[in-house]
Amino acid sequence: MGTVTVGAVRERAPGERRVALVPEAVALLRRAGIDVLVETGAGSGAWFTDADYTEAGAVVVAPDELYARADAVLCVAPPEAENAGTLREGQVLVGLLELRRHPELAEQLAGRSVRTVSLDLLPRTLSRAQSMDALTSQANVAGYKAAVLAADSYDRFFPMLTTAAGTMRPAQVLVLGAGVAGLQAIATARRLGAVVTAYDVRPASRGEVESLGARFLDLQGLAQGEQGGYARELTEDEQQAQRAALDAHIARTDIVITTAQVPGRKPPLLVTASAVEGMKPGSVVVDLAASELGGNVEGSEPDKTTVLDNGVTLIGAGRLPSAMATAASTAYARNLVALLKHLVRDGELVLDADDEITGALMGKTSPTEGVSS
Ligand code: NAI
Repeated sequence: MGTVTVGAVRERAPGERRVALVPEAVALLRRAGIDVLVETGAGSGAWFTDADYTEAGAVVVAPDELYARADAVLCVAPPEAENAGTLREGQVLVGLLELRRHPELAEQLAGRSVRTVSLDLLPRTLSRAQSMDALTSQANVAGYKAAVLAADSYDRFFPMLTTAAGTMRPAQVLVLGAGVAGLQAIATARRLGAVVTAYDVRPASRGEVESLGARFLDLQGLAQGEQGGYARELTEDEQQAQRAALDAHIARTDIVITTAQVPGRKPPLLVTASAVEGMKPGSVVVDLAASELGGNVEGSEPDKTTVLDNGVTLIGAGRLPSAMATAASTAYARNLVALLKHLVRDGELVLDADDEITGALMGKTSPTEGVSS
């Protein structure tokens, strides 16, 4: 019986502090009979030392040795061309590769006959795949951090406080988009004592919002958009009606956290510049969907915080999971352990395209295919 060797690389994308494996995960893989290589310095951004990895049973190596010896190379973000060029035929690259957004990388890897297992393609509603769901684990971290960032930038309390100096009213928080990140933002803002209202285009999210003690915003008469469990993209007219209906609520809110995404599409614009202008000075807007393509809030840019002329702080969130690198890496590494236990059989790495999970991760089937509506 052979032994599978996996190797966790040091992330090279600017500002990326996460790492694919943490020491705890190394120990679990070793126990499962998998050999683990870790690139020198790979964990430093998430506060794990090379010695921590060695103690857990990994061999810490230079990148050349890792690429030469690993059957599967483990990463978080897609690798840059230079590193992708080091992968060899038959080697497996595992990560949040987002190959549809990086066609040049997909081509480079295909050209070198590198096999890819891309965690962003996981069929999410499949219950046996939940432990491998890295989009969920990272969105959880992002949602938590978004609420904490909002609280940090807000110059009042989140909770209602009664002191000798009188009573302070609680902050009013509006969360737009109640998927994984939105629900975690709601839960976190609630734990801090804010009064939370939330809205999502999927009617199914109402129960989840209410179970967290938040109010679901009823936008009467608006289109609902669900397709196979995911949000569908609204038409331009529907989007305009939605924005108009939201404006009045936004003006009454101290904190707006937006998390709305539609898989494979540009994020919907939910909060216009004029809605932000209507907010009170000192209010805070966090756009978790901020991207180069635009976000949920007009004018937001990733990794950029601006205090606008009217005294509203607009935070374009960039890499929130990376900003909590230890928690995010720990959760991601658990996803990878579950995935590797699924892929390794009798000391061999088995990429079975006919397997429901593996096939989807290899890009053989679409992640939304087969999801019942
Ligand atoms: P996402 O990051 O793609 O989007 C975030 C949220 O934005 C979603 O809830 C979506 O409905 C909402 N949204 C989109 N357009 C909107 C608009 N115009 N206005 C208001 N809200 C809008 O979503 P995430 O968190 O990645 O989840 C995707 C889907 O997969 C969800 O339906 C979620 O419930 C489901 N899911 C299921 C899991 C499971 O069953 N194990 C695990 C994770 C996600």
